[in-house]
Amino acid sequence: MQDRAEHDTVSYTIENRIAWVSFNRPEKRNCMSPSLNRRMQEVLDELEFRDDVGVLVLTGEGSAFSAGMDLKEYFRENEEKGLGHVRKAQREAYGWWERLRWYEKPTIAMVNGWCFGGAYGPLFGCDLAVAAEDAQFGLSEINWGILPGGGASKIIVELTGFRNAMYHAMMGENVDGRKAAEWGLVNEAVPADTLKERVTEIATVLLGKNPVALRGTKWAIRRVREMTFDNSMDYLVRTQEAANFFDAEGRKEATRQFIDDKTYKPGLGAYDL
Ligand code: ACO
Repeated sequence: MQDRAEHDTVSYTIENRIAWVSFNRPEKRNCMSPSLNRRMQEVLDELEFRDDVGVLVLTGEGSAFSAGMDLKEYFRENEEKGLGHVRKAQREAYGWWERLRWYEKPTIAMVNGWCFGGAYGPLFGCDLAVAAEDAQFGLSEINWGILPGGGASKIIVELTGFRNAMYHAMMGENVDGRKAAEWGLVNEAVPADTLKERVTEIATVLLGKNPVALRGTKWAIRRVREMTFDNSMDYLVRTQEAANFFDAEGRKEATRQFIDDKTYKPGLGAYDL
C-alpha cells in the first residue's frame, strides 16, 4: 500500500462539542511517524480554541490506540540522515505531547487497543484515560534493545509506582486494560463494546462544568504534583485569582443558584451554566 498522505495520518470528527481525534494509520497499527506527529500538532492547534469543541478525545482507528514510535520512519530513517534529523523528529513528537499536557480543554484518552512505548506520552498527555478491558499496554522498548525514552520511564513510575514500573519496563510484558486500571495507568477499563459510550458519558459530564474552572483545575493538578506544599498553596490562590479574570461571574451565579434559588446542590452536580 502506498504511504498515507501526511494530512490523512490523523482524522477527526466533532459531535455534540466532543472532538474525536484518531491516530489514523491502522495499517501500521497507528505507530507515530514524523508525518503523523506533524499532522497531530496541526489538528490539536485547529481544535483548541474552537467554540464547537468542549472536550477532546484521543483514540485510534482499527486495532491499535498506537503501537508507539515508528521504528522505520521515526528511528531508522532519521538516524541514517543524522543527528539534526533525529532531534527534529523528537521535537515534533514531544512537542504535541507537551501541547496535550497543557491543552486548554479537557482531554480523554480512549485506549481501544495496542498501546506501546512512545504512546505513553500522549496517554499521559490526556487528563483522563479509559481503556477497553482487552486493550494491551506495553513498554516493549526492552524487547528491541532500548530503554523507555520519550518520557515513558518517568510516566510509568509516576503513574504506577516503583515496583510495577520496574517490572513493566524490565520484563517487556504487556498488561491488559483491567490491570492498567488497577495500576492507575488509566482511570478505568470497560468492555470494548461500551468504550465509546462510557467516554461519551464522561465527556458529557465535563461539558456541563464551568470551562474556566476545568482548565484551572487540570493545570493545577499537573503543576502541584511537582511542588512543595507551600508553593502549591500559593499557586492555587494565584490560579483562582487569574481564573476570576476570565470568568468573574460563574461562581457568583453558582452561589446564587444554591443559596438564593435553591435550584441545585454543588455536592450533587454542576450549576446551570
Ligand atoms: N513501527 C513501525 N512499524 C510498525 C510498528 C512500529 N512501532 N508497529 C506496527 N508496525 C507495522 C508492521 O511492521 C506492519 O507493517 P507491514 O504491513 O508493512 O508489514 C504493520 O504495522 C502491521 O503490523 P503487524 O505486526 O503485522 O500487526 P499485528 O496486529 O500482528 O501486531 C503489534 C500488532 C503487536 C502492535 C505489532 O505490530 C508490534 O509489535 N508492533 C511494535 C510495537 C512496539 O514495540 N512499538 C515500539 C514501542 S517503543 C517506542 O515507541 C519508543
